[in-house]
Amino acid sequence: MTNTESTSAVPATALSEAPLLVAARGGTPSRTPVWFMRQAGRSLPEYRKLREGTAMLDACTDPEMVCEITMQPVRRHDVDGAILFSDIVVPLKAAGIDLDIVPGTGPVVANPVRSAADVAALPELEPEQVRPVLDAIGLLLAELGGTPLIGFAGAPFTLASYLVEGGPSRNHERTKALMHSDPDTWHALLDKLAGITSTFLRLQVEAGVSAVQLFDSWAGALSERDYRRFVLPHSRRVLGGLADAGVPRIHFGVGTGELLPAMREAGADVVGVDWRTPLDTAVRRLQEAAPDLPKPVVQGNLDPALLFAGRPALEAEIRRIHAEGRAAAGHVFNLGHGVLPDTDPEVITWAVELVHGLR
Ligand code: CP3
Repeated sequence: MTNTESTSAVPATALSEAPLLVAARGGTPSRTPVWFMRQAGRSLPEYRKLREGTAMLDACTDPEMVCEITMQPVRRHDVDGAILFSDIVVPLKAAGIDLDIVPGTGPVVANPVRSAADVAALPELEPEQVRPVLDAIGLLLAELGGTPLIGFAGAPFTLASYLVEGGPSRNHERTKALMHSDPDTWHALLDKLAGITSTFLRLQVEAGVSAVQLFDSWAGALSERDYRRFVLPHSRRVLGGLADAGVPRIHFGVGTGELLPAMREAGADVVGVDWRTPLDTAVRRLQEAAPDLPKPVVQGNLDPALLFAGRPALEAEIRRIHAEGRAAAGHVFNLGHGVLPDTDPEVITWAVELVHGLR
């Protein structure tokens, strides 16, 4: 099944003219598209109610629940994209790696990966292992109409950090130690993870998602030199492998102001920018680094904390970011990182309306 056939309920032209997809191509959308990372889950009372008594990883493998949670912010906020409710560790767990998502902590890995033997023992991902996720995509396509569904995966570096550290890490010290002290084992690890991520994203595209986002959330912990040497080749394999997939590829990380040109080089159609770098500065850096490429398309970059600042301050920031986004060939409005758990959902709805009203 191809991407266009699977969305037969909606004429393919209607979906391809969705503001998110037009902006991602550098065209002129009918309104500024906006969606928010981590818009599903956390901040929504209807999500918390539905999740009661169901562990996170069980929720991610229940197609009806994934579909409902993914739809909740689309109904409530009128956002221009739905992001599949899942987690970056879902394909690792599905492939057979012993890990859990511990409430209040995040992903915890039973046997951290630190030696060549640990890497050699890592499994590959078989398509059948992520069948529930693909079934959820099928359910969503029937519900979403003209709203694009965004698939996603964790990038090799960010996944490696969880596997090597054994869980969330502030400094990524074991991860950096491994890459520098044993580069062969490091590259073997990232090669395995690039394989799992490539398989998973390709399956999501075949199941019908309209865009994909590669989350390299923790790449900003690296110098540009280390990023280029230890990470870029593997992320390029993932994104480059999707060049013919016919869907925009969004590449996002936090604290990556120094890495934006390298992250674009990895094969991004849309470069995600966190709140530390103004969008016009990001565009200038991207253009200076690659004067022969077309003007870049960017996504971002409202500081998630600004959703707590009250409407006058929030409105001023949204207007500033919208104006700075005009420097790009296309701008997908988003946060600079995910929605924080205590965010008032009514403020999110209001912010979406405001973005939609800006010209
Ligand atoms: O925020 C990011 O940087 C996006 C990439 C990312 C995800 N999961 C995607 C995701 C990262 C880095 C993770 C790891 C992870 N998983 C953490 C962070 C731990 C750390 O190192 O600080 C945590 C807490 C989890 C577990 C988790 N993931 C829970 C409990 C939930 C559901 C409730 C919630 O917090 O929203 C998730 C959902 C999740 N993880 C989504 C995504 C894209 C789906 C929600 C959405 O996009 O709306």
